[in-house]
Amino acid sequence: MSGAGPYRYLFSPLRIGPLTVPNRVVFSAHLTNYAQDGLPSAQHAAYYAARAAGGAGLIITEEHSTHPTDWPYEKLIHGFRPEVIPGYQRITRAVHAHGVPILAQLNHNGGQASGMFSRLPVWAPSPVPDPLFREVPKAVEEHEIREIVAGYALVAGHCAAGGFDGVELQCSHSSIVRGFLSPATNRRADRYGGPLANRARLLLEIVAAVRAAIGPGLALGVRICGDELIEGGTTIDEAVEVARMAADTGQVDYINTSIGVATATLYMIEASMQVPPGYAMYIPAAIRRAVSLPVVGVGRFKDPKQADRALAAGQCDLVGVVRGQIADPDFTAKARVGEAARIRTCLSCNQECVGRMGLNRWLGCIENPRTGRESVPLPAPRRGGPGRRVYVVGGGPGGLQAAVTAAGRGHRVTLFERSGRIGGQVAVAASVPARAEFGDLVRNLAAEAARLGVEVRTGFEVSAAFLRAEAPDAVVLATGARPARPWWSGGHPRVADVREVIDGSAAAAGSVIVVDELGFHQATSAAEMLADRGCSVEVITNGMVVGQDLGVTLDLETWNVKAHAKGIRQRTDVVVLGSREEDGRLVLSAQHHPTGTALELACDWAACAVPAQPEDTLWRELRDGGDGSGGAAGGGVPFEVHRVGDCLAPRRAHAAVIEGERVGAAL
Ligand SMILES: Cc1cc2nc3c(=O)[nH]c(=O)nc-3n(C[C@H](O)[C@H](O)[C@H](O)COP(=O)(O)O)c2cc1C
Ligand code: SF4
Repeated sequence: MSGAGPYRYLFSPLRIGPLTVPNRVVFSAHLTNYAQDGLPSAQHAAYYAARAAGGAGLIITEEHSTHPTDWPYEKLIHGFRPEVIPGYQRITRAVHAHGVPILAQLNHNGGQASGMFSRLPVWAPSPVPDPLFREVPKAVEEHEIREIVAGYALVAGHCAAGGFDGVELQCSHSSIVRGFLSPATNRRADRYGGPLANRARLLLEIVAAVRAAIGPGLALGVRICGDELIEGGTTIDEAVEVARMAADTGQVDYINTSIGVATATLYMIEASMQVPPGYAMYIPAAIRRAVSLPVVGVGRFKDPKQADRALAAGQCDLVGVVRGQIADPDFTAKARVGEAARIRTCLSCNQECVGRMGLNRWLGCIENPRTGRESVPLPAPRRGGPGRRVYVVGGGPGGLQAAVTAAGRGHRVTLFERSGRIGGQVAVAASVPARAEFGDLVRNLAAEAARLGVEVRTGFEVSAAFLRAEAPDAVVLATGARPARPWWSGGHPRVADVREVIDGSAAAAGSVIVVDELGFHQATSAAEMLADRGCSVEVITNGMVVGQDLGVTLDLETWNVKAHAKGIRQRTDVVVLGSREEDGRLVLSAQHHPTGTALELACDWAACAVPAQPEDTLWRELRDGGDGSGGAAGGGVPFEVHRVGDCLAPRRAHAAVIEGERVGAAL
């Protein structure tokens, strides 16, 4: 292998069966929820085209259902319907315009699904319910197996007619083929169960049928789970054997890999920042040693150097960069021209991609407000013309994004930050155990702001008088939120906000109760940090689970493992009703709301993750104390005033970034 620029391997072309890919970066398959009524949409085409324009070497679309019994989530592409073909053609035309090949992923999710949408029983090798869907599947009979195989061939034919360069069979983390391959879910005693040669029969039949449907001119890939990480499931040795069997057919052009089972061990497939990068590379490395086909390695490739190193080490022939290109469509192009430092590196936060999938929302990205909106044009600037003088007040993600977008549109932007460093709450959030990568949100934006010539003035408190005197053309307020004491605190000095506990301005010590009303990282992060400092920690929540929303970002498993390891106790369904000082201790009166039981919880400190209040003092001063000349603030200032993020309404970081972009684009 060889390649141009600072990367020895990344930019070397590779032959994959009948295809040649220009480089080794694959935009591997992932759900988007962009489908409309089971059909591919204009958003699909714009989304994939943006990654092709950004230099990806190969694009593999999300899965296309191969059979009406497979409809596990609402916005799945129903590949078995011939009406998909025009939508396929729209996607492939848009991607091919950039000279990039594109494959379609074919799948039947088998028992990892529910019949709630299809109103049909789900199909699987054996009646083994999936732990997430908890639905007992119908064990398929031989004639139904033939129907499954025919379904794959039918959809492969639709893909060929739709202009795809080939197809990939999802036999990995959520698939009826995986269900047959895995000893954990295949309990059959017929010729499709028992020894691996039998369990792999369905895969081999599908390979033969699909190859017959697409002919020799299109590429055929097989995606395999290398390690299911479940009791009695497939492990790497069997996975290698499966790869060898697929390769031995002589009909498969490449092997893609993954790790985990989408429902039981999903947190390892789309690993969050709690899991180290490169964690899954033992899988492609082992498969690559056993087969002579190109092998794709996937999992937390964050930057092109890391990808190039994996190629150099012989761990894989291609690198799947999924969230990395959801976050920055130009990941590859920036690396190619030596501007890798400009890549908006994915945070592996899962907040707007994986998190939204689980909630039936379209795919987005916390870092990239354009993700999911590629087909929607940005608003036209309100007054037109670049060169306006824009003052942004506040250096958190909302202010930074507004500054970057406005500067990108040619305005002269100055950003003011009251404290000595930019970052706002993100800097606090990134300072706790295993959350440092969240800080890349600010680092990426700050680098872009510097590149675009935004003047950043830290340690500068902006007043209404200053703004009036300066009279810029537009002011964007991104002044954030301030901690609010819960109503029950009674002003007790040892009831603090988690932010104050994390940044050290409240010296919580001894036994600490962390009150989780936000259901996200705030309480769990503070609890971990306090435990690491030697405190005795209990987290209480009015919800059913501590850190409830960590479930959708796939952080709940790692939180619970760490909480146990660190001796952090958890108590759910508890509402705090009051606090008092007693014998030198802080006592919280609380109620276990399902039973009405009164509780008295003694501690030294309470650290509260509770809703914050908008820091909108400056906004109100501009609105109320104006000079009567009008303005967007509704009061009297001779310039536009906009608010973004928490100073408007305290929410999570994605909202600040989206509003920063929206306002910055409209100036
Ligand atoms: C939102 C989302 C949906 C996914 N859906 C699929 C899918 O339909 N088929 C599939 O084979 N992999 C799917 N994956 C897994 C990815 O292909 C990939 O293995 C995983 O994201 C790890 O790569 P990354 O760290 O580069 O994101 C999905 C990943 C994400 C983030
Ligand atoms: S939302 Fe987070 S994990 Fe998902 S692509 Fe964006 S930065 Fe990466």
